Amino acid sequence: MSKQIQPVRGMNDVLPAEIGAWQHLERVGRAVFEAYGYEEVRVPIVEHTQLFQRSIGEHTDIVEKEMYTFQDLGGDSLTLRPEATAGIARAAISNGLLRGARHKFWCLGPMFRHERPQKGRYRQFYQFDLEALGFAGPDVDIELIALSARLWRALGITRVRLMINSLGTVAARASYRERLQQYFRAHESELDADSRRRLDGNALRILDSKQPAMRALIEAAPLLTEHLDPESQAHFAGLRAGLDAVGVAYEVNPRLVRGLDYYSRTVFEWVTDALGAQDAVCSGGRYDGLITQLGGEATPAIGFAMGIERTVELMNQAGNAVPGVAPDIYIVASGERSEREAMRLAEQLRDALPGRGVLLNLGGGNFKTQFRRADRSGARLALILGDAELDRGVAAVKPLRRDDGQIECPLHELPARIAALL
Ligand code: HAM
Repeated sequence: MSKQIQPVRGMNDVLPAEIGAWQHLERVGRAVFEAYGYEEVRVPIVEHTQLFQRSIGEHTDIVEKEMYTFQDLGGDSLTLRPEATAGIARAAISNGLLRGARHKFWCLGPMFRHERPQKGRYRQFYQFDLEALGFAGPDVDIELIALSARLWRALGITRVRLMINSLGTVAARASYRERLQQYFRAHESELDADSRRRLDGNALRILDSKQPAMRALIEAAPLLTEHLDPESQAHFAGLRAGLDAVGVAYEVNPRLVRGLDYYSRTVFEWVTDALGAQDAVCSGGRYDGLITQLGGEATPAIGFAMGIERTVELMNQAGNAVPGVAPDIYIVASGERSEREAMRLAEQLRDALPGRGVLLNLGGGNFKTQFRRADRSGARLALILGDAELDRGVAAVKPLRRDDGQIECPLHELPARIAALL
């Protein structure tokens, strides 16, 4: 036998046993997003590599070492999207949607990052992504965060905490980056290899280092919040007051910098202690400069992305069972004539009872085997057809989840009788 083909490392199959939770999350998400006026968009999974270099930033982990980049047959450098914000901003520009207009978009789909796989961290993972384009905030910042808090409530997830910070304007951030560079350069011998590499590229990312040896140095580093421009200070104060007003609890974390370069002012992250090392479940922020940077007209914007796998894991841990989908009727038939009649009846019932699950026994088997399958399917009723019943123009209907006895029913009355029993 030839060797089995292996799945790609870090890329998962979502099987029927898990799909109930995924679909529940999708239903709840869609309902909440629509209630806040967000409209669904679907953008390509593949974009020009340049889009991500110019938006996420050349000196980020994602662009430096995690992108699935390839040359297509026409010689273009393309990349599997590592995130959705850049693609949605690009789509808004390409389709001429901005021009002073405002939009609230959401999308769901797979993202790709060549990270070291571990629990909660995959190379293909899914995100719910929300983007509000054309809103300067802080009202929309507050509303978007309140939306995310509502999602946790609707999903029964409680083990999450909200952290917020402000990165200031692009200019304030750039001067802070220089100040940080000076500070860390003065302590260069104490830096680990990763941080030394980040020193020239993006010194802000050093604040993200998880190395215990770096902790004291990072604790003593100058804080961005102390160097915020007055407008960003007012924006951040408005955000905090608004969150207080809508009753969303938060912690200000002055070291929350985010791993993508396009942010300015508000950044936030919902973290959990339930997923081990991967503590962020939902993260985002404001990116007022990104659309101009990509060649569009100046448009303030904010958004976030929620990791679907991590959220599903939190849902499972919260133990809120998501009901599986069981059929309503399982049709059992024995004998060639009955099997043919069963096929016709199944289609007739599907016409007469739209939305009801009608499962036809496939592949034959004696009555015992078929009843076992009917029971395992979770169906509420079994419909039994044998040649003897057919001769009399009837079928038997047997409730599978109640003790009520079996009844006999003329074939032409079946749809109405079954509808009454369900
Ligand atoms: P991000 O922080 O890179 O932000 O990712 C958002 C979320 O995606 C994370 O909080 C996490 O739940 C999930 N995630 C990230 N990487 C992985 C992975 N390798 N495996 C599993 N889950 C993962 C963004 O992507 C920004 N585009 C968010 C945003 C939208 N900012 C503004 N608008």
